[in-house]
Amino acid sequence: MTDLTGRTALITGATAGIGRAVALKLADRGAEVIAHGRDARRGQELVHEIEQRGGKARFVAADLADAGAVTRLAAEAGDVDILVNNAGVYAFTRTPDTSADDFDRHIAINTRAPFLLVGALAPAMAERGRGAIVNITSTAATLAAPVGAAYGASKAAVELLTRSWATEFGAAGVRVNGVSPGPVRTDGTEQMLGDNIAVLAQANIRGRAGEPDEIADIVLFLIDDRSSYMNGTVVLANGGERSLMPG
Ligand SMILES: NC(=O)c1ccc[n+]([C@@H]2O[C@H](COP(=O)([O-])OP(=O)(O)OC[C@H]3O[C@@H](n4cnc5c(N)ncnc54)[C@H](OP(=O)(O)O)[C@@H]3O)[C@@H](O)[C@H]2O)c1
Repeated sequence: MTDLTGRTALITGATAGIGRAVALKLADRGAEVIAHGRDARRGQELVHEIEQRGGKARFVAADLADAGAVTRLAAEAGDVDILVNNAGVYAFTRTPDTSADDFDRHIAINTRAPFLLVGALAPAMAERGRGAIVNITSTAATLAAPVGAAYGASKAAVELLTRSWATEFGAAGVRVNGVSPGPVRTDGTEQMLGDNIAVLAQANIRGRAGEPDEIADIVLFLIDDRSSYMNGTVVLANGGERSLMPG
């Protein structure tokens, strides 16, 4: 595994769930972590935990729904070698029950914020000839459901952007890949679904929800030099799609 000492990593939404697991693993591998979120208490707790494990981290707060705050986050982060666009919101509402504000919120946080961060941070990576960007998408980007169309659309755009950015920055040494998780047990899904996540998870071959660490390990592989020939790929991590064929 690549030693990430000397590399700086910005992880959005690091105060909970998948982002928190990614931040801890990156710090354990030597990266200096810039942990982003809105909740300063949970942000400082994470920084403290990383420091106790011998790592280096700082917390930067920003509401990604606000484009100005995203730009400020990029400026406060400075030069980074690794960017993990993880922060996201998901509401599984039907289309008639999704207001213009709800729709805009999904696009602003899930799609526009990664767009602005890549626009601000990738050019310097390209100039240095090295960088890794990982976007957390969702199976909702490709698997249509009768609820959550706005969420799915916001993540489908991120999958297209992943391929676009791989093309735009790849020749300069910046790799851009994604991870598309199925249901994962996190603070967010706990609040939204409670124990019902187990019901949702029955639909996959493993018959269970994923754990944040299982997604974080894929993110780490996509950052690692061992994935040096992967660029513009979205890795599916959903436990496997169950076939309806009897047998
Ligand atoms: N969990 C799943 O089943 C699942 C499946 C597929 C894809 N995903 C994707 O994986 C990513 C992480 O999901 P998760 O379940 O780990 O999320 P989570 O537990 O709900 O945590 C969300 C994180 O995003 C941050 N965040 C939310 N809204 C924000 C805003 N307006 N501005 C700044 N930060 C904001 C939160 O920070 P604060 O709380 O500090 O504000 C928190 O750190 C998301 O992109 C999600 O769409 C999750």
